[in-house]
Amino acid sequence: MTTHSMNNALSIRDLETAARKRLPASIFGYVSGGSEDLLTLRANRAAFDAWRFVPRPLVNVAKRSQKVELFGKTYSAPVGIAPMGVATLCHFDGDVALARAAHEAGQPYVLSAASTTPLERVAQVNPDTWYQAYLPADTAVIGPLLERVAAAGIGVLVVTVDVQIASMRENEIRNGFSIPLRPNPTLIMGGLLRPRWLLGNFVRTLLAQGVPHFENFTATRGGPIIRATPGDHRAGRAAMTWEEIRWIRERWNGALLVKGLLRASDAVMAQSIGVDGVVVSNHGGRQLDGTVTSLDALPAMALAAPGLPLILDSGIRRGTDVLKALALGAHATLVGRPAMYGLAAAGQAGAAQALALFKREIDVDLALLGCADIAQLSTDFLCRAGEVLAADNIPLKELP
Ligand code: FNR
Repeated sequence: MTTHSMNNALSIRDLETAARKRLPASIFGYVSGGSEDLLTLRANRAAFDAWRFVPRPLVNVAKRSQKVELFGKTYSAPVGIAPMGVATLCHFDGDVALARAAHEAGQPYVLSAASTTPLERVAQVNPDTWYQAYLPADTAVIGPLLERVAAAGIGVLVVTVDVQIASMRENEIRNGFSIPLRPNPTLIMGGLLRPRWLLGNFVRTLLAQGVPHFENFTATRGGPIIRATPGDHRAGRAAMTWEEIRWIRERWNGALLVKGLLRASDAVMAQSIGVDGVVVSNHGGRQLDGTVTSLDALPAMALAAPGLPLILDSGIRRGTDVLKALALGAHATLVGRPAMYGLAAAGQAGAAQALALFKREIDVDLALLGCADIAQLSTDFLCRAGEVLAADNIPLKELP
């Protein structure tokens, strides 16, 4: 798919198909796959499908708004790009392409700790970049990193807490994929079978930028993505606790988000120590397999921590999914793979297309639902699939 034919992609599924054709199998597997038996990966989709809308026509929806305010900024849509590591594998200068696409669309973008473009450069391209950290339980490492992120003008810090150690992703092992990336026959053969990717991304990256390095795990530049560096980013992460979050809260003046919580009591804990928001996430089914879905975890968290901005990800593929998440208590959402599929298919234009598809679908869906503004979404618009309505959607009101 070329930049010019992007409009042929009518859905995120189309972008996924295009990405599958463009990427070596090992890299497509890295993006699309999940851990172990893929229970959570699949459940993430099923959770959205288990809700149905109860529309309310004959309401004036001639003017519709999907704008949302988050941490002092107004965004054009309640959908941002989730942090994703080594985006450079999907497209030349992938971090910058994603950052630009989000900035031009007026939607949030979260730069991953596992990225290969210095965060200072990304923040120049998109001054509203959020930074996602993978942190060791070592304040001597965390402190200087916070200073670096603040000095780049980044105002939102997202600390991901559901990657204590690497998960088991069997497809990656079978495909010869690993981080650090270790060249092997399966990987090389996969690259040779995708000449457009090989020349347009792999060779182009090597020639223009050299071997990508992990630029943003700590205050200083990390090692190349093809080699494990002693004392690298993974060291010490498993020991992290709420103590470090408290420590960060005392020193970080910007907005602080914790990503990867699924328990109501953890939302309460986050709120009580002054965290500004929570990303309700099971990491897109890439970490502990068999977890509760974000969507099923959401209502209890919203109820337990009123006023705490909850940003939901994991499984969102349609505008209707976004509306369901907002109706169940999310303030906004993030999408991971949809943006990465777009990036792989056609670079910045493809990522922009993914964001535009969500925006267009949300707009149409709001009209058809009979809700002029996302701020008015509530469980009043939903019922469980298969549920026989007594009157309007009364059974839902019995939810805790
Ligand atoms: C991720 N995710 C992720 N999360 C994070 O906090 N730091 C990271 O570096 C990464 N890296 C990463 C790479 C790839 C290829 C994917 C697909 C995902 C998880 C991501 O932020 C988000 O939680 C999920 O992708 C959301 O699920 P969907 O939208 O992909 O279904």
